[in-house]
Amino acid sequence: MTRGGVERGVHVDIAVVTGSAGLIGGAAVRRFAPSFDLVVGIDNGMRQEFFGPAGSVARGLAEAERVPNYRHHRVDVRDQGAVDAVLRTWGPDVRLVVHAAGQPSRVWAEGQPLTDFGVNALGAVTVLDSVRRHCRDAVFALVSTAKVYGDVPDALPLVETATRWELDPAHPFHEHGVDESIRLDRADRTFLGVSKLAADLAAQEHGRQLGMKVGVFRCGSVTGTGQAGVQAHGFVSHLVRTAVRGAPYRILGHGGKQVRDVLDARDLVEALWHFYLAPKPGAVYHLGGGRARSASVLELIARYEHLTGREVVFDYSPRARFADPRWWISDTRAFRRDHPGWSPAHDLDDVLLALHRHWGGVEVAA
Ligand SMILES: NC(=O)c1ccc[n+]([C@@H]2O[C@H](COP(=O)([O-])OP(=O)(O)OC[C@H]3O[C@@H](n4cnc5c(N)ncnc54)[C@H](O)[C@@H]3O)[C@@H](O)[C@H]2O)c1
Repeated sequence: MTRGGVERGVHVDIAVVTGSAGLIGGAAVRRFAPSFDLVVGIDNGMRQEFFGPAGSVARGLAEAERVPNYRHHRVDVRDQGAVDAVLRTWGPDVRLVVHAAGQPSRVWAEGQPLTDFGVNALGAVTVLDSVRRHCRDAVFALVSTAKVYGDVPDALPLVETATRWELDPAHPFHEHGVDESIRLDRADRTFLGVSKLAADLAAQEHGRQLGMKVGVFRCGSVTGTGQAGVQAHGFVSHLVRTAVRGAPYRILGHGGKQVRDVLDARDLVEALWHFYLAPKPGAVYHLGGGRARSASVLELIARYEHLTGREVVFDYSPRARFADPRWWISDTRAFRRDHPGWSPAHDLDDVLLALHRHWGGVEVAA
């Protein structure tokens, strides 16, 4: 592999983004391109293999490739030789690595745990190991997930209201959401939770034991126009996509009152930028939209209908997904204490309207 016109010894600052055709990786490419000489992307387009044509990231790849200082490598993160060749090529010029390649669906993982574990756990360790050998001073951000906790949040004292499950107001997590002190053990977790937790722990170890500048970001529901939302992953994008098409959206269990906090991928990558400027090796943060950007599925549908004047057709299946918690809101105060300059810029309405336009919905007055 060559440096394609960039001579050895010529100083360049490089960001490497895995999963660069996907939602979070794509947002990272666009955010970091103006701040680095070069953004090197790794993605093998595997989302389509997971979810079929509706999961294709061809559009995301085309968008990344329009970025002038972007170079793409169609590489599988499980392929140690190929990943190593990319990182060896750029070596210590790499300042930042965002690892966002992954299999993101609990449903898909249930059918193929071996592949899921390979992509999520071994893939992460493969990338970490190459970074360790070729650019160990780089800041490394692992996009992890609140799904590592499995159904633990369901043990919190929840109450059912007309439109959502809600945490008992007397509970310390009520106001700001769940902080990093929540337990990990004694959980139904899903195979996805297992593979993501393995990656999460391995990344922490590279920070704690080896002193690498690794940060782990356990995200809630991240969405944005770069998401190829499907039933098995990316519920906000999928909901708007089906609504625009007039197709029925399927709600799975919990009365449609399950609560998630939603974060625009642009706000997530902005947080990664703040971490890059002041990294804390081995840090683990919850990162999500927080209470202000939280909604149940029913509330999200109502909000979308209000914003667009369009009725959402849905059907309801009473069987919830395995280990699917009724309530999750991320407490982001630990991250904001370390990085006081960050706060999300996009609210739920922005997110819904951007998705509506993206999926070809009729323009609505702001
Ligand atoms: N979107 C969310 O709500 C959310 C929340 C928490 C954590 N995460 C995690 O963040 C990561 C990125 O999520 P996303 O929403 O951007 O997903 P995404 O599916 O949009 O992007 C992931 C990208 O990785 C690529 N990829 C998959 N397997 C690969 C492999 N073996 N080699 C190289 N590339 C591969 C896919 O083609 C895709 O472009 C995932 O690991 C996911 O679990 C996502």
